[in-house]
Parts: sequence; structure tokens; C-alpha cells
Amino acid sequence: MADLEGLKVEKNYHLNEPFAAKGDFHVKGMANQEWGIKKRLSNIFNPQSGSTVMFAFDHGYFMGSVSGLERLDILIPKLRDHVDVLMATRGALRTCVQPDCRKAIALRVSAGSSMVNDDLSHELVSVDIEDAIRMNADCMAVQVFIGADGQLESIENLSKVINAGMRYSIPTLGVVAVGKNMERTDQYFKLATRIVAELGAHIVKTYYCDKFEEIVAACPVPIVVAGGKKLAEKEALEMAYKSMQGGARGLDMGRNIFQSFHPIEMADAIGKIVHQKFTDKEALEYYNDRINV
Ligand code: 5RP
Repeated sequence: MADLEGLKVEKNYHLNEPFAAKGDFHVKGMANQEWGIKKRLSNIFNPQSGSTVMFAFDHGYFMGSVSGLERLDILIPKLRDHVDVLMATRGALRTCVQPDCRKAIALRVSAGSSMVNDDLSHELVSVDIEDAIRMNADCMAVQVFIGADGQLESIENLSKVINAGMRYSIPTLGVVAVGKNMERTDQYFKLATRIVAELGAHIVKTYYCDKFEEIVAACPVPIVVAGGKKLAEKEALEMAYKSMQGGARGLDMGRNIFQSFHPIEMADAIGKIVHQKFTDKEALEYYNDRINV
């Protein structure tokens, strides 16, 4: 019909329709995965809430001793029982985290950036699959720089890690990085998160932004939200709440926990939102009560 030529359907994210391929497993898109993948994902995502609180302290791999992480040996023992997952480098884990911690591990396996060079997008796979196996990693974390100079390298890194992980049933967490020239728009994050998921990552980490629910709907694996730069606790909890309301399956916070004056109380407040459906206001009240404000 001539009058329909060239026309195309409007985008429709079917926001009111739950993920249709859920199967009988509590992690989105993982119903057809192998037992070992499901076991490790169950260590990460609580089977009751379906969600997770990841504490990220892998920043040292390119930021060095960033404020709040000067002494991992002191900080981690205080925080570890207040989160579900420890996201860290192998160096931090082996030197400063007791192996009896009984916490899920998101092992940072990419490297190559540092704060002294302008373009952080050129990384390599620094940890081989044998060491991830030795450390009993529950997932391997790889930075992905869509739209940056290092895009192809980072996609190759991600693919190598997924390929190796699938041989040993270790899931991969694709970390969507935002290059300095990129805007945190829903268009960018829809592109980046979908690419990472289509390449086979089991979990995608990204940032919260407007139309976040569309980003989640279009991504066939669970999304966890990075905290980003330190915010006031009120704003950080609001962002956490809006992320969960938008369909995120958890938060992967670093600076908004370890740069808080009260990191333990902040981690617990995040956990209330993630696992007990607190609103941001309820979580802030809980946080303030805990610090006796
Ligand atoms: C940087 C990372 C962090 O794991 C991620 O950004 C979460 O940390 P923060 O909440 O501080 O942004 O990928 O290495």
C-alpha cells in the first residue's frame, strides 16, 4: 500500500508486560542457562527478593587509593556483612578480604585505565579464567566503552571473558562505562546495555537516567545500577529507589557508600530499598535514625 511505504511502527517497550521468557528461575533471561551459572547468579541475586546490593571497591584498578578506600583492610571487614556482593580486584580480595567472608564475589577482570591518561577506554583482560576459578568468582566484571575510541577492544575483552566464563559456568557482568564525551542519555544507555546483553553478558551494570524503565525493558538480562560520583545521601537513596522502581535488580554502589560519613548505615539503607521495598523517604528516615540525626 503506497501510503504505508517507508513508514515504520513506533517503538513500543511494552512497559506493562513482564519479561515473557522468565521460565522458573528468578534471574531475568537466565532460565535456559546451565546449573553452575544459575548457582552463581543465585549467590548474587537473592532468590526471595530477586535483587542484590553490590558493594563496589574495585576503583583502585584505575583510580589508586581514592578517598574512602585508603585502607581496604580496615573498611571491608566493617562493611562486608551489610551487602550481598563484594565487587573488587583480585589484589584487593587476596590482601584485604578474608576467604571465609561467605559473600558473593564480582571479580574485576579488566584493566588498562588510569587516572593519569585522558582516555580511559583502552583496556585489556588482566585476569585469566584460571584465577577467576581459583577465587571462586560468582561473576567476572569487564568495562565496556561503547562509543569511545576503545570500543572494539572493550567488546573483544567482553567477548573473551564471556567465552571463557561459559566454559566454566562463571557469569559475566558487563559494566557500561560512560566516556568523558558521552552524555548519560537513555538513547546511549539503551544502545550500550543492549549491545552488552546481546554479546552474552549475564548481568549489565549501567547508570540511572530518564526513561530508565525503557532501558530495563529492552535489556533481556538483569540491570544493576552504579552509584556514580558521591551524592548527598538523600539524592543517592532517591536514585536507588527510582532505579528499583524502574526495574533494576539491584544497586552496585561504591563511592556513595565508602565516601559516606556513615558507610555501614548507608549500605543498610540501600539494602532496605533493594530487598524490603522501602521508599527513598523511608530509607532516609531509617538512615537518619541510625546515625541519630
Ligand atoms: C568503576 C566501576 C565501579 O564498580 C562502579 O562505577 C560502581 O562504583 P560507583 O558507585 O562508585 O560508581 O565500575 O571501576
